Amino acid sequence: MVSSTVKGTAVIPASPPIPKAAGYLPLLGHAVPLMRDNLGFIASLRSYGPLVEIQLQPGQSTIVVNDPALIHTLLVDVAATLDKGRFFEKMGQLLGDSVVTAAGAVHVRKRRQLQPAFRRPEVARYVDLMRDQATATMTAWQPGQTLDVRETMVKMSLDMLSATVFSGSIKEQAFYELRQNLSVVMNGVGARIMMPDWIEKLPLPANWRFTAARDAVRATIHTAVDELRTADQDTGDMLSLLLQATDEETGRPLTADQICSEILTLAVAGTETTASVLSWALYELARHPDIDARIQAELATVLGDRPVTFNDLGQLPYLRAVITETLRLHHTGWLVTRRTLQPTRLGAWELPAGTELAYCQHALHRDPAHFPDPLVFNPDRWLHEDQQPLSEGAFLPFGAGKHKCIGDRFAQAEITTALATLTQAWRLELAPGQRIRPVARATVRPSSLQMTAHPRAHAPLHASSATSD
Ligand code: HEM
Repeated sequence: MVSSTVKGTAVIPASPPIPKAAGYLPLLGHAVPLMRDNLGFIASLRSYGPLVEIQLQPGQSTIVVNDPALIHTLLVDVAATLDKGRFFEKMGQLLGDSVVTAAGAVHVRKRRQLQPAFRRPEVARYVDLMRDQATATMTAWQPGQTLDVRETMVKMSLDMLSATVFSGSIKEQAFYELRQNLSVVMNGVGARIMMPDWIEKLPLPANWRFTAARDAVRATIHTAVDELRTADQDTGDMLSLLLQATDEETGRPLTADQICSEILTLAVAGTETTASVLSWALYELARHPDIDARIQAELATVLGDRPVTFNDLGQLPYLRAVITETLRLHHTGWLVTRRTLQPTRLGAWELPAGTELAYCQHALHRDPAHFPDPLVFNPDRWLHEDQQPLSEGAFLPFGAGKHKCIGDRFAQAEITTALATLTQAWRLELAPGQRIRPVARATVRPSSLQMTAHPRAHAPLHASSATSD
């Protein structure tokens, strides 16, 4: 990997050596420390310097990039010379070829197809629908009831996506069936990222369960797409957009399989993430009554008793800071990968074609070099105008560059609307006897989160149907 390159007259110095992380075993690579504690292991890599080598696949190096400036270079400056790498190949086992797994010109085409549903005017239109879904989520809650908050947030996020981007064209039943199998598949994808590829081929129950759940998930979406194609209705939503789109390479309409891949991608990318962020935010509010009280004061001042609307979203700076802090401390991404398609310069390093690269938002956002007291949940760190500007690449909740999250605006609106609506009416308390820890599979989520619901003393009428009788 170390080389001296001559370009014209400029001599590019030989690359500095890249240290290899401890814990490697032949045949297993770094699977053991990863399976034991993947978040702890990835965070420990910081001590090796800007770049460090691990092996997710024995005999194949992955270079983990720890330095924010180099992560920025990776995502933005040299993005054109990169493919998406191992994480997305494993996601592709579920998603097929979609915007999230594609690179280059194919990616640009696929992204353009989806973009119209995520523009600002569309998101503005979605907010009332999102609020209605949050309100519907609470209607069955009873005072003192213990809720599985993580499950509840996954269901609500799927309902919000279904009501907005898909304008209800994918029936509730399809999303229900999807939810049943999605966690098996997402756990399987997460395990496959960390384990050597040969383990996937063994006749193990976990592998059978993965394949069965993956096939069920795809069959569910396929059926929904086929029904809509037969019905031939233009609902103006994402599904209609995809049914009308043509494949620029073949000039033909997209196949049911291509459409299925894009829908699944949105269902996975748009619900696992937001559900985790919402769960963690509710967890932190339960642990910090002072922060909860400041949100209540802000909601009372800005909204009084009325429901939140799109125009209010920019008027809730403290709630926004709470969400930003949740995206920092509890980020859902733990291994975003890329692969060089040609020799690529990353800072002082000249990387040959075929180099696997990765970075970890979860570890990056907890780096004490950029965030003082990184493990403290402190929304105020986003409110001080005199604070030091963050280095480029140090805070990447939605990534950067051409693969930056297409749903960032949607997600911010969704999380703000949901938190404003839920917390106006209910206070959630942590149920006793739980040890809540982050679990990193395909995304990072709380291990489980049981919370008891208590109606607010002055719950607004629009949101308190469950408490009024
Ligand atoms: C808090 C919630 C969310 C977080 C933290 C998040 C985070 C991210 C990040 C970091 C990326 C970049 C991955 C990379 O560099 O390869 C990404 C990409 C993506 N996200 Fe999100 N996301 C969220 C919500 C959503 C939502 C609501 C949707 C859609 C409904 C969505 C759809 C996508 C898609 C399609 C991509 C791939 C974009 C591309 O490669 O062009 N995400 N997301």
